Amino acid sequence: MSSIYLCTPGPTRIPDRIRDVMAKPMIHHRSPEFEKVFSEVRMGINTLLNNDGETMLLSSSGSGGMEASVASLLSPSDHVIVIESGKFGERWVELAKRYQLSADVIKVPWGKAVEVSEIQELLTPNTKAVLTQACETSTGVFHPISEIGALLQTMPDCLFIVDAITALGIHLIDMQKDGIDVVIGGSQKALMCPPGVATVSLRQKAIARLKESQTMYLSLLKEIKSQRKNTSSFTPAVSIIMGLSEALKMIFEEGVAKVYQRHQQLSAHTRHVFSSLGLPIFTEEKDAAFGITVVGDDLSWDVDGWISSLKKEYGLWIAGGQEHLKGKIFRYAHMGYVDQSFVDETLSIIVKSLQKHIQTPSYEEIIRR
Ligand SMILES: Cc1ncc(COP(=O)(O)O)c(C=O)c1O
Repeated sequence: MSSIYLCTPGPTRIPDRIRDVMAKPMIHHRSPEFEKVFSEVRMGINTLLNNDGETMLLSSSGSGGMEASVASLLSPSDHVIVIESGKFGERWVELAKRYQLSADVIKVPWGKAVEVSEIQELLTPNTKAVLTQACETSTGVFHPISEIGALLQTMPDCLFIVDAITALGIHLIDMQKDGIDVVIGGSQKALMCPPGVATVSLRQKAIARLKESQTMYLSLLKEIKSQRKNTSSFTPAVSIIMGLSEALKMIFEEGVAKVYQRHQQLSAHTRHVFSSLGLPIFTEEKDAAFGITVVGDDLSWDVDGWISSLKKEYGLWIAGGQEHLKGKIFRYAHMGYVDQSFVDETLSIIVKSLQKHIQTPSYEEIIRR
């Protein structure tokens, strides 16, 4: 198939402008030309997050950024609070186990956002970190990170570490205002690039806590020394970093406030369309992330079979449910390089294809209402 409609929650669509930059002849990474690009990307992510500290670029998927943060900032027996509200919260829990942290896990029902009071109850003066997702991609929930940050501002020893892999470039995240010490992003979501680069942004409080760790490749203490010279300890993902530089240009040209507004509008539109079909939306509106809409709770038809048929018949890719939600929900992403016309085109295909399973009005009728 020559072109596909990619509506999965990462990887996401790559604009031609970024593809063209990535297809340029390879250059060597230890060169002034590449150091300039490396520096632009580090600064660009800082600007996006209003970070007065430093951003590091790791050649790994987003999970590498999560692991690097745990390995480089926390020690065995450290007390941490972990929000587990879906598949990606489970990843924090697994990291906490592997790094022998003393973790209090707040198990939030899938589809719900954490209550800040639950964190407050578990916080002690010895708590070294709170680990959460901003957007939990398996359920489409956006956690109240600014409220959590406000709570943690009063805890001098506690770091607030946020996996914003599917929130960076979608939701306004202001590390200074929101009181976030570490933000992790990934190249393959709203940054519109292929998978392969994790961004780890640290404020001063976290930088001061960087320590020697068992890992060599994911040591942020080692890495920060190189990155301050706008290079990396190991060969970086040159082409993706060049793509990220172009992606950031696109984001700043559009205007960050407009980028966030576009995601919010597409999210509201998508919820409206699926609700109009009589389908339940898994996440309550007040808790909904803007980059993904999760539909269903226990859908009555063969959802995964239908997802495969969408791909086969129309070249349209969406995602199914994970773990206990497999076969019960579907996830349609609108993150990154998406606008109203792309959403109209893809949702109208989805609505048409759903007519095999449920009675639906046409897409045109829905949007006329
Ligand atoms: C919220 C969140 N965290 C972590 C990850 C893992 O990132 P990666 O697959 O890039 O390692 C994902 C991937 O979808 C995600 O959505």
